[in-house]
Amino acid sequence: MGVWSSTLDGHSIFTTKKLLRECIEWLSADAAPGARQAGLVTAAIAISARYRRVGRYWDPHLECTRAFLAKEAAACAQRRTAVMLGAGACLDVPIKTLAATFDRVILVDAVFLRRTRRWVRQFPNVECLTYDLTESLGLLNKPEQPDLFAQLAAVRPMLLLDDAQVDFVASVNLVSQLPLLPMRRLLASGRYAPPAVNQLGLQLMARHVRYLNAFTGRKAIVFDAEMWRLSPEGERQEVVDLRPVLQLPHPPEQHWFWEVAPAGELRRGKLMHRVEAVAW
Ligand SMILES: C[S@@+](CC[C@H](N)C(=O)[O-])C[C@H]1O[C@@H](n2cnc3c(N)ncnc32)[C@H](O)[C@@H]1O
Repeated sequence: MGVWSSTLDGHSIFTTKKLLRECIEWLSADAAPGARQAGLVTAAIAISARYRRVGRYWDPHLECTRAFLAKEAAACAQRRTAVMLGAGACLDVPIKTLAATFDRVILVDAVFLRRTRRWVRQFPNVECLTYDLTESLGLLNKPEQPDLFAQLAAVRPMLLLDDAQVDFVASVNLVSQLPLLPMRRLLASGRYAPPAVNQLGLQLMARHVRYLNAFTGRKAIVFDAEMWRLSPEGERQEVVDLRPVLQLPHPPEQHWFWEVAPAGELRRGKLMHRVEAVAW
């Protein structure tokens, strides 16, 4: 008691507890090869922390995603296996509905935190499959390789494509995230010009859509179609439009706006996404 009370005030104890909790979360996370080094475990912990801070701004988006996926699941004629790509903390995945609808549900992500794995255990027909959906993280973590770009161009993700039981597959708020940390790492290596790294990022996203398309069952995607910073004066800045890159069926079944980082989270303004939901 003496040591703690004399050296740590309430705020320090809170910060120390938070650091300890995040440290345990980091160590106990299940991560695909290369994902931890790429920063994806740290990012998963940061997403959960941000949700705790600004969850009320995210809830409408999470609810729209869950409702869309539940609707598309119900539209499947056969209901053997459902696969959710980018399931992560499962904030936006209607697990209970899927578990009740399908014989088997496979959640796929490069990182599953321990608390998600524990929570999922209550559903006997739901499993977590820890997998790098770009099949590239191992390569991207070695930016010094002489033929890195050629090796990356040859990668063709194949996970579960040979499973004829998959009647429903959905990519859940994932595609825009696939290139972010790998690109940051390549740029930080100083070995590649920004336009080449940018091109690679676009390839990773387009390849994900081709991978999704290769499934024979019903397919759905919920994705960040447009992202921008909204200045305090209401001006849209740094706009990124992914629709020309992804070339998904158009028009989307649904769209909505997601306030990803409300005022106060960024130094200036807010981060906004237009989310689109497509099924085919
Ligand atoms: C914005 S989150 C999606 C939200 C998530 N469905 C949830 O409810 O927490 C993006 C997800 O993509 C995953 N991810 C990023 N790169 C990946 C990769 N190469 N392979 C598999 N998952 C990846 C992250 O771990 C994260 O869970």
